[in-house]
Amino acid sequence: VRMILMGPPGAGKGTQAPKIKEKFSCCHLATGDMLRSQIAKKTSLGKEAKKIMDAGGLVSDDIVIGMIKAELETNKECKGGFILDGFPRTIPQAEALDKMLAEKKSPLQHAVELQIDDALLVARITGRLVHPASGRSYHSTFNPPKSYMKDDITGEALVQRSDDNAEALKKRLTTYHAQTAPVVGYYKNTGIWKAIDASQEPGQVWKSLLNVFDADN
Ligand code: AP5
Ligand code: ZN
Repeated sequence: VRMILMGPPGAGKGTQAPKIKEKFSCCHLATGDMLRSQIAKKTSLGKEAKKIMDAGGLVSDDIVIGMIKAELETNKECKGGFILDGFPRTIPQAEALDKMLAEKKSPLQHAVELQIDDALLVARITGRLVHPASGRSYHSTFNPPKSYMKDDITGEALVQRSDDNAEALKKRLTTYHAQTAPVVGYYKNTGIWKAIDASQEPGQVWKSLLNVFDADN
């Protein structure tokens, strides 16, 4: 499959994407995860990105476009297709993606928007726990790990993201509505856009996603 998953912070992109990856044996490329791995490695790009991410802003288009291009070209898992999570987030990013895919003659098949009211996102974001190495996420109330503050699979420690607080969330939402909502509009005109009610419980959101894939087959 070749698809993008859009939606505000906490909509459930990172929760649903691994299930899509498993179903289609494709790659899951999350620009936020890639940037956090640069931060963990303390690269100069990571240091620059951390300030922007903690403030709820967007990292430059050139940087994220370069990261996605490199992965699509070299990541073997992407031979089976891809799911992009958190990219594109600006119109120039969407245009760059179209250009990359046109060159490969492999256009996008689905642009799925996870729709949810902002009011529901605070509880999701402030309760999130993540396993940094894998990007797996949990929620202290909605999806608790089997063992307190430990990843179910590796047993390693779970942490809170530094941008997962109410104040940074407010800025991330403002950024989303100003810069990423237009990207949703961009895909609405293409015929591949579909919206899903992301306020449902995770299993129900997954069922809605399966319907999107079925509708095409
Ligand atoms: P990024 O990592 O992409 O963060 P985000 O878009 O803010 O999205 P989140 O990861 O917060 O939300 P999600 O939808 O994945 O939610 P999740 O499934 O984890 O980006 C971070 C930063 O990096 C950006 O702010 C920006 O600075 C930079 N950046 C990244 N990409 C960029 C780009 N392309 N251009 C420029 N800058 C870029 O779920 C959240 C919580 O809710 C979890 O605890 C989960 O367990 C729970 N949950 C999930 N689904 C449900 C449900 N149905 N019911 C109840 N709880 C649920
Ligand atoms: Zn995410």
